[in-house]
Amino acid sequence: MLFNCPLGEEKARALVEVLDLAPGSRVLDIGCGDGEFLRRVHARWGGDCLGIDLDDAAIARASAVSGDAGPRFEVGDAGKLPVAAELDLAICIGSTHAFGSGRQAFAGALAAMPRMLRPGGQLLLGEGYWQRDPEQAYLDFIGEPVGVYNSHEENLQQAEAAGLVPLYAATSTREEWDHFEWCFRLRAERAARAAPQDEAAVARRDRVRQWNHFYRAYGCSTMGFGFYLFTQS
Ligand SMILES: C[S@@+](CC[C@H](N)C(=O)[O-])C[C@H]1O[C@@H](n2cnc3c(N)ncnc32)[C@H](O)[C@@H]1O
Repeated sequence: MLFNCPLGEEKARALVEVLDLAPGSRVLDIGCGDGEFLRRVHARWGGDCLGIDLDDAAIARASAVSGDAGPRFEVGDAGKLPVAAELDLAICIGSTHAFGSGRQAFAGALAAMPRMLRPGGQLLLGEGYWQRDPEQAYLDFIGEPVGVYNSHEENLQQAEAAGLVPLYAATSTREEWDHFEWCFRLRAERAARAAPQDEAAVARRDRVRQWNHFYRAYGCSTMGFGFYLFTQS
């Protein structure tokens, strides 16, 4: 699994291609995980690219893959970033919970991230949405905070109400979702098989099996994931 979100090769290429970055641009990926998306931005556009994440293991993997010529990666907390960073592009894909819990996550990212941009800078967000009203059984299973509150259109409208101008949007396909969800299961199943005495691995596999069951019963037809490129008005 290249990305920790439902994103395939073709869409990743399209999302990188629709960006518009001059040589030497400053780019920040907040909650970058293993850094694959930022590596692709850097490979296409160059510039000064920094990825931050709370997870030191993810940052170590990202740094090891990138080497000296790629983007930089640092352990860092989205809540402690400088406000006026004069960025050309700020990215936050599947990580808006870094800006708040529940409904405050997307709202918090929409409030904080534009202030990090230079005038006319770009903002690329990846955020969940409901394809249709979710069943109560699915909401009960996910628990609080559910983390998804809007439709795709409402995500766009919420950003517009925050003063952003949508430039481009895309949504994950069923194939991208299936790959993402089944890779989770594959990894958990294999880890538990490789170490049957490892109680944590077995417990994780059982949780992932349950999650996978709910994905097939509800999530695959209910939860969506959108990618949104904005600039400031
Ligand atoms: C679902 S993953 C997405 C990773 C990556 N953007 C991708 O699409 O592959 C969410 C990431 O956000 C990070 N994260 C959560 N809270 C954070 C915070 N306050 N500051 C920085 N990163 C955070 C997590 O450690 C995790 O790696």
